[in-house]
Amino acid sequence: DIVYLNGEFIPASEAKVSVFDRGFLFGDSVYEVIPFYRGVGFRLDQHLKRLRHSLSALRIPLEKEWQEMLEELVQRNGGGNLSVYLQITRGDAGRRTPVYDEWMQPTVFACCNPIRNIYAAGADNIAGIRVIVTADLRWHRCDIKANGLLPNILVLQQARESGADEALMIRDGVLTEGGSSNLFIVKNGVIFTPKLSSEILGGTTRELVLELAREAGIPYQETDLGYAQLLAADEVWISSSTRAVLPVLEVDGQHIGGGVKGPLWLRMYELFRQFHHQLM
Ligand code: PDD
Repeated sequence: DIVYLNGEFIPASEAKVSVFDRGFLFGDSVYEVIPFYRGVGFRLDQHLKRLRHSLSALRIPLEKEWQEMLEELVQRNGGGNLSVYLQITRGDAGRRTPVYDEWMQPTVFACCNPIRNIYAAGADNIAGIRVIVTADLRWHRCDIKANGLLPNILVLQQARESGADEALMIRDGVLTEGGSSNLFIVKNGVIFTPKLSSEILGGTTRELVLELAREAGIPYQETDLGYAQLLAADEVWISSSTRAVLPVLEVDGQHIGGGVKGPLWLRMYELFRQFHHQLM
């Protein structure tokens, strides 16, 4: 495995970061997970736009051309279907102190992970998932893709221990998103999804779902959703970069839409496939 660290492509075993790096000490860092298929970044511009948003929210002054570096990293790891993890921390302060100096040199790290090409899989080979619903204990800047993922890790572990694949989070009676995905429900042919705010991450896949729905003339609404609406939905989906859009067949042990993959999910998945096919 070749990774990128601060300007160099090196074997993972040789990549070392300081114990005084603020990413390690404080989670003072942001990240992206970007899928590459046959060596080409999927929705790369959207990921880089969100990265700039995250960096500027943390006031990390780093202007960089990411594309070339990411493509080179993918090539050095054999190309193909890989997801690239890119993390930028505020850097190594040489000591532990919460306040930071503006001149700090950010730490830039990137590595690759093999992924399945979910677009090549075909609808029959995509399994529906189970989810649980649990309290959203995160802070109020979930629009930043920050590395402080402890609440996400805890709810995802809770999901796994309940035999589920994802945890949906709810705050003050309003569903926000999954531990690592965005949420959609379908009712009477209309797609509903929580509106963008600082309580959720603006998912690149979420954006694509809405884009494709608009082009196909499928009605959608960005609005608050509660637990009762979730259980009464005809279909529930989650979305994320490496999973595209997946049908949820069970919420807290109760079937959704009779426990089978819904027709609008199938239509959306086929729209994703077409889009992917045209791009790659
Ligand atoms: N997570 N919401 C949260 C909390 C997420 O962590 C993610 C993605 C998403 C979906 O965003 P996108 O469609 O741009 O992937 C929504 C990545 C995959 C991760 O942390 O591994």
